[in-house]
Amino acid sequence: MNKTKILMVCLGNICRSPLAEGILRTKLDANQYTVDSSGTGNWHVGNPPDKRSIAVAKKYDIDISDLRGRQFTSRDFTDFDHIYVMDSSNLENVLALAQDQEDRNKVTMILDLIFPGERVDVPDPYYGGDDGFERVYKMLDEACDVITQQIS
Ligand code: 4NP
Repeated sequence: MNKTKILMVCLGNICRSPLAEGILRTKLDANQYTVDSSGTGNWHVGNPPDKRSIAVAKKYDIDISDLRGRQFTSRDFTDFDHIYVMDSSNLENVLALAQDQEDRNKVTMILDLIFPGERVDVPDPYYGGDDGFERVYKMLDEACDVITQQIS
């Protein structure tokens, strides 16, 4: 059976999307689902997640320290079934690489799962304090519960 493939996307692929990847992985059966993440920017390609994302994940028993940054490419539309973006600028940048309606239909703002149609951003915690990472963790955990319910 082919696995369902899910991609989380943010800007740097070091704060929000690796956290979303780690959280969703713990909720889904690895035999049935592949979860990955990428960033629309290229500054952190090859880098591990931000240490504050690693720390908040660890607090909830999730290890994301092995993940490495990579940049989103148009090929991801072929490789993935569902693409969840963290904010409206990620949405714009990802949709700019879509080639057809089938590609565009794969893309969802992740907090639309909790606040349908409201286009709420997952705030970028990069320039803030540790509490921002905790808040982002909670939002992503809630959204990943919805993904799990919808998908399985
Ligand atoms: P992320 O956060 O998109 O959640 O990974 C960011 C991390 C780094 C940068 C921007 C956003 N940066 O500009 O380096």
